[in-house]
Amino acid sequence: MTLSIKAIDPVSRPFFAGVVSGIDITRPLTADEAAEIERGMDEFGVLVFHDQALTDETQMAFSRNFGELELATNNLRDGRDRLGKHIADISNLDIDNNVLGRENRRRLFSLGTRLWHSDSSFKVVPAKFSLLSARIIPDAGGNTEFADMRAAWDTLDPELRAECEGLVCEHSQLFSRALIGFGEFTDEERKQFAPVQQRLVRTHPSTGRRSLYLASHAGTILGWPVPEARAFLRDLTEHATQRKFVYSHKWSVNDLVVWDNRATMHRSRPFDATQVRDMHRTTVAGVRSTMAEAA
Ligand code: OGA
Ligand code: MN
Repeated sequence: MTLSIKAIDPVSRPFFAGVVSGIDITRPLTADEAAEIERGMDEFGVLVFHDQALTDETQMAFSRNFGELELATNNLRDGRDRLGKHIADISNLDIDNNVLGRENRRRLFSLGTRLWHSDSSFKVVPAKFSLLSARIIPDAGGNTEFADMRAAWDTLDPELRAECEGLVCEHSQLFSRALIGFGEFTDEERKQFAPVQQRLVRTHPSTGRRSLYLASHAGTILGWPVPEARAFLRDLTEHATQRKFVYSHKWSVNDLVVWDNRATMHRSRPFDATQVRDMHRTTVAGVRSTMAEAA
C-alpha cells in the first residue's frame, strides 16, 4: 500500500478536500506516515479516509499523532457519559442508545451544529483538528459541509480585508444557541459559556496562509456596536460559504473525516430524526489562543 492524497473530484468540487488512500489508520502509524498526513492537512484543510473501522481507542491513538486531545464537553446525559472523556458524542442517542426525543434538551442544543462554525472557537485555546468517524448513519441526509476560509480571505474585497485586519471577536456558545432560539441556560452554564476573544483574521502556523476566523459562536467585535458587528459578521459568513467554497461530505459507515478548524468552517445537514446517526469525534487541541498568534 502506498499512501496517496488526491483532491476529491477537482473539476466539479472545491479543491480543499482531499481523499487519502493506501493506509490503514486503525493500526499505529510510522512517523513518516503521520508527517505526510499532516502535510496533506496543511495543503487541503479537509481529508477523507474511507473504510476505516475505528474503535474509540484506535481513533484516539490515530488522533494523537497530531497533538494532545481536547476533553469533550457537553457529553453528559443525565449525569452520565455515553462515551469516554476524549470522545465528543456527536450522536442523537441517549445513555441507553435510544434515539433522543424531539424535545430533548441535548438534541435541541446540538442543533447548533447546523450553523456554520469552527470547533471550540468558544474556548480560549480553540481546536486544531477535528476527526469525525461515522459509526451509524441514517438512510438519507446528514451530510457535513465544509467551507474553505483561506479561499474566503483570498477572494475578499480588498477594502473589506483592510477593515477586518486587527479586529477581535468574542465567541460563546450562548451567541450561537441564541441564533436558533435556544436560550434556557442555567447560571452555571452562562458562567461556563463566558465569551472568549479571538482574532477575525488568522495566519496558519505552518503554511503562513491567512484565513477568516468566523463561527456562529462569534457575537461581538470589540469596540463595535453589537448590531453592526452582527451584520458585518453575517455578510462575511455569506461570502465565505458560497457554494464554490463548499465541499459537502456524504457519509458512508467507517468514513473518517479530518478537518483543520484553523482554516475551515463546517456545519451539519438535517436528516430524519427518528433514525440513528452515531458519529464519534476526537479533537486535537490547539496550542495557543488566536490572540497570541502572529496577526
Ligand atoms: C462536529 C460537527 C457536524 C455533523 O462534529 O464538530 O459539527 O455533521 N459535526 O455531525
Ligand atoms: Mn463542529
